[in-house]
Parts: sequence; structure tokens; C-alpha cells
Amino acid sequence: MVRKLLVTGGAGFIGSNFVHHVLAHTDDHVTVLDKLTYAGNLASLDGLPEDRFRFVEGDIADQGLVDTLFGEVDAVVHYAAESHNDNSLNDPRPFLDTNIIGTYTLLEAARKHDRRFHHISTDEVYGDLELDDPARFTENTPYNPSSPYSSTKAGSDLLVRAWVRSFGVIATISNCSNNYGPYQHVEKFIPRQITNVIRGIRPKLYGAGENVRDWIHADDHSSAVLTILNNGVIGETYLIGADGEKNNKDVVELILTTMGQPRDAYDHVTDRPGHDLRYAIDSTKLRTELGWTPKYQNFEQGITNTITWYQNNEPWWAPTKDGVEAFYATRGQ
Ligand code: NAD
Ligand code: DAU
Repeated sequence: MVRKLLVTGGAGFIGSNFVHHVLAHTDDHVTVLDKLTYAGNLASLDGLPEDRFRFVEGDIADQGLVDTLFGEVDAVVHYAAESHNDNSLNDPRPFLDTNIIGTYTLLEAARKHDRRFHHISTDEVYGDLELDDPARFTENTPYNPSSPYSSTKAGSDLLVRAWVRSFGVIATISNCSNNYGPYQHVEKFIPRQITNVIRGIRPKLYGAGENVRDWIHADDHSSAVLTILNNGVIGETYLIGADGEKNNKDVVELILTTMGQPRDAYDHVTDRPGHDLRYAIDSTKLRTELGWTPKYQNFEQGITNTITWYQNNEPWWAPTKDGVEAFYATRGQ
């Protein structure tokens, strides 16, 4: 059966990677609903088959529009969010509007139309781990978010759980670790440093650079979400991760050496307030119960490919670069 999917936030980083993945690996038809905020870029959706893809510009908090679109599709994958921690420290309000009210609006439509709903979330809902703690997050780790961003994502997860239990909405949730790959906005760590080097700007490391993130390629995130959408158990949460723990200093040094620069050619800058120390995902449940495995497990190769993508796609990121650096400069970052 050819399925009709609605993908919210499909013009963003991970949403656009998912749309490319779905159209390449299934016969599904995709409608993207995206507000095209500063983080959305229609160029990320270039080259998709016109007979299986449609773009709708709009807000997930627009009840009338959401109601119409839910009536036209079989299932919904919800990526749309305000996604950047540093922005949430500067101005939390859009995070509440989109991540909380937007998700609420979608859940009400899923309830009314009885549509399969998959909610995309983050490992940041669990707070952070100590650097020397061998533990990793599991589906049973208590919620303990640190930032306005992660607290609104935690709130959205809890709304989904409540709509499943109270109203029988047929939903699943996934919480993934840090993604990297093509189409990521230059405000984020890895593309910021790659494009800095391309522009002759020294990479910027928050604090001592010891914070650990658990990196996964965006295409592996997409294959995991498709697996959950197809085979996940309704009401369940699945953690997505690819055993990619690295500290920020090592990542900056890898980018510099891969780009032919001295290993130490970076600056330490003002740390992020409330900066989470370490994230680490135990994805045993997804792997054993649904049979998913990541494909991109060579991080050095993945970074090399990502560097090449930014080198070859300067028109995609150049219009946003100066504004991002001006914002960081106001924060001493
Ligand atoms: P992004 O900021 O690159 O993209 C977000 C997209 O949502 C943009 O296209 C934007 O225009 C759209 N959007 C924002 N507000 C909207 C609204 N009100 N209505 C419609 N569209 C709106 O984000 P991303 O990094 O691709 O993250 C996507 C999702 O994945 C988010 O839910 C995020 O919490 C989650 N996530 C991200 C990561 C990561 O490493 N980036 C990891 C785990 C989970
Ligand atoms: O863990 C999943 C989360 O990963 C997602 O939910 C978020 O949407 C996504 O933005 C990401 O959050 P982080 O805050 O971990 O990502 P960011 O790219 O902003 O930063 C990664 C690490 O690098 C973090 O420890 C802060 C640090 N950093 C970031 C920037 C932009 C620097 O040292 N220098 C920088 O210039």
C-alpha cells in the first residue's frame, strides 16, 4: 500500500534528511508542513520527485491548517521544533509556542482524525550524566531537562504520553542523540566549526571543551524513525543512538586536522550557561525489539563527508553565516 505521510519541520536539518530517506527507500508520498523559520531552508528539499512530494508552508500551531492536512494523510512524523539551546537561553518564548502549543495542536488533530503519530524528541530530556559515569540513558531514565529548549521538548513528550493514555492516540516517541550530516544549520557545533575554517575564522570551543555528545549520522536517525513508524509498539518510547560518544575538543581537533589546519588552531570562548556535561544513549531496546542497526559507524569518515558537503554547498549556508556569527559575538561565543 502506498502511504501518505505528513512530515512537520521537513525543511529543517533532520526532517529534510528524513524526507530524502523516505522517498529513496519507500513508495510513500510525503507532504512537508514547515513554517520556514530562520532554520528552514527549501533548498534542502531540492531534487525530490514531484509526483510523490508536496510542500506546504505553515505553522504547526495553526489549527485549521493542521486539521485539513491530517484529513489528507495516513500518518504524521513530527520534527518541527525550535531546536537550538543557545537561542532558547536568549529568548525562550518561541520554544513554548512551537514545541508545546504546536505539539498540542498536532495531538488534538491526531486524536480527532485517529492518525498514526510519531513524535521526534531528544536525549536532552534526561538532563546530563557525569563525565566519569559509565551509565547511559535508557527509556527508564527519569526526565530532568536543563535548558528552556530541553524542558519544552520534555513537556511535548509528556503531552504525547498523556494523549496516548487519556485519549487513545496511536503514537510513539523517539529520543535521539546529537545528529550530524548534510543540511545542518551553521548555528550548530559541527557545521559552525567547518564553515569557520572555510571562512578563515578560528573554531570556537565552549569552556574547556570536555563536554561529551553521542554523535549519530542523520541518515541513521532517519532509518531508525522509519523502523519505529513501521514496527514500533503504540505508546512506547525508543531511544536512538549509535555509540558515538566524543568530547567537543576531540571533534574540533578532528575537523581542524581533516581540513589541513593545526590541531590547536581554535579558541576557548564563554561557556554555555547550564551546559550539560555528557549525553550517552543505550539503544538496546530499538536494536533488540525492532532489529535496527546504524550504518554510519566510522565517525572520521562521516566528518570527512560532512566537511566535503559544506565545501561543495556554500550557497546553501553562506546567507546565514554572518548573522549567526554576529549573534554568537553578542554572547562572547
Ligand atoms: P532544525 O532547527 O534544523 O529544523 C526545525 C524545522 O522546524 C525548521 O525547518 C523550521 O522552519 C521548522 N519549524 C519551526 N517552528 C515551526 C512551526 N511552528 N511550524 C512549522 N514548522 C516549524 O531542527 P533539527 O535539528 O532538524 O531538529 C528536528 C527535530 O529533531 C526537533 O524536534 C529536535 O528537537 C529533534 N532532535 C534534534 C537533534 C539534533 O541533533 N539536531 C537530536 C535529537 C532530536
Ligand atoms: O542531544 C540532542 C540535541 O543535540 C538536540 O536535541 C538539539 O536540537 C541539538 O541542537 C543538539 O544540542 P546540543 O546543545 O548538544 O548541540 P550544539 O550543536 O548546540 O552543541 C554541541 C556541543 O558543542 C555542546 O556541548 C555545546 C558545544 N559548542 C557548541 C557551539 C555552537 C561549542 O563548544 N562551540 C560552539 O560554537
